[in-house]
Amino acid sequence: MTLDTAMEVVDGVDLNGKTCVITGASSGLGRESARALAAAGAHVVLAARDAGALVATQEWIGTEVPGARITTVALDLTSLASVRRAAATIGDITPRIHVLMNNAGVMFTPFSKTADGFEIQVGTNHLGHFELTRLLIPQLAAGARIVILSSDGHYISDVDLGDINWHEREYDKFLAYGAAKTANILHMVELDRRLRDRGVRAYAVHPGMVATSLARHMTAEDVTTLREYLPRRAKRTAPQTDTRPKTTGPKIAMPDQGAATQVWAAVSPELADVGSVYLANCRIRDDAAPYALDEARAAALWELSEKLCGAEG
Ligand SMILES: NC(=O)c1ccc[n+]([C@@H]2O[C@H](COP(=O)([O-])OP(=O)(O)OC[C@H]3O[C@@H](n4cnc5c(N)ncnc54)[C@H](OP(=O)(O)O)[C@@H]3O)[C@@H](O)[C@H]2O)c1
Repeated sequence: MTLDTAMEVVDGVDLNGKTCVITGASSGLGRESARALAAAGAHVVLAARDAGALVATQEWIGTEVPGARITTVALDLTSLASVRRAAATIGDITPRIHVLMNNAGVMFTPFSKTADGFEIQVGTNHLGHFELTRLLIPQLAAGARIVILSSDGHYISDVDLGDINWHEREYDKFLAYGAAKTANILHMVELDRRLRDRGVRAYAVHPGMVATSLARHMTAEDVTTLREYLPRRAKRTAPQTDTRPKTTGPKIAMPDQGAATQVWAAVSPELADVGSVYLANCRIRDDAAPYALDEARAAALWELSEKLCGAEG
C-alpha cells in the first residue's frame, strides 16, 4: 500500500495513552504531524516560539480532530535558556514521552548568531535540539522513538567539527544548511547507539520537497544557485550506486503528504526493531552520505555539542 499522507499513515493506529512532543509544530510539517498523531489518540505537545501561531495550531487541530488532547509549550531553539525552560515545562506536563519529533528548522538564513553565539542554522537545527533532547532523555519511555528532521540537503555539505559555528570561514548559507542537516543525521546515529539498549530508537527523515514556509529566506536567485549546488554536491558525495528514483524535475508535495514519513517513523510497526536509519517516502533509504552515518564522527559531534551547550554530566 502506498502511504501518501500523514493521516493515511495513522489509519488504524491507536496512540491513546501516548505522548508525542513536536518542535516547530506551529507550521508546515510539524503542524500536519501534530494533527495526524492527535487523530490517532496521542496527547500532543506542540513546542514552538510564536505564541499566536501555537494557539492557532491548537485551535485548528481541535476543529480537525474533535476531542484532541493538545498542550502548547514556548520553545525558542535559538536560546539555550528557552530550551531549558521548555524542557522543564514538558517535564511538568508529562512524566513520559513516547515520541520526540525534532522537526523545527530554518534554511538558508543570512549569517546571524543565536543568543549563545552559535551560527543560526546549526544553532537552531542541531544545537538547540541537542540540548532539548539531552534534557528529555530521562523521560523517554521504553519503546520511545526520536524522529529527527534532516534533508537531502545534507548532501550539500559535511559538518566541519573544527569550525561548526563558522568563525574561521567565509559564511555560505547553502553549505551551512547542508552541514546542519548532516549534524541532524549524526545526532540521530549517536542517540540510537546510546539509547537502543533502553529500547529507545532514533530515525532521521527526508520529507521530500514540500510547500511550507521553510523557503521564506530564499530569493529567486537562490533557487538558481541551489540548482547548481545540489547536483554537483550530490554527485561528489552520494554513493556510486545511487538508487534514488530519477525524476524529470522537482516534485513538490503538500504538507500533509510531506509529513507522512516523519509520522511513519513515529508509529510504524515495520520499524519496531530498527533504528539509526535514514528514511524517505515511508521507507528506509540506504543512500545517506557516508559522512552523515559515520559513528566516530557522530560520537565526536555529541562530545562537541555537549561542550558547546555547557552540558553537565
Ligand atoms: N519543506 C521542505 O521541503 C523540507 C525539505 C527537507 C527538510 N525539511 C525539514 O523539515 C523541517 C520542518 O520544516 P517545514 O518545511 O515544515 O518548515 P516551516 O513551515 O518553516 O516550519 C518550521 C517550524 O520550525 C519553527 N522554528 C524555526 N526556528 C525556530 C526556533 N528558533 N525555535 C523554535 N521553533 C523554530 C518555525 O516556527 P516560526 O514560524 O516561529 O519560525 C516553524 O514552526 C525542518 O527541519 C526542515 O529542515 C523540510
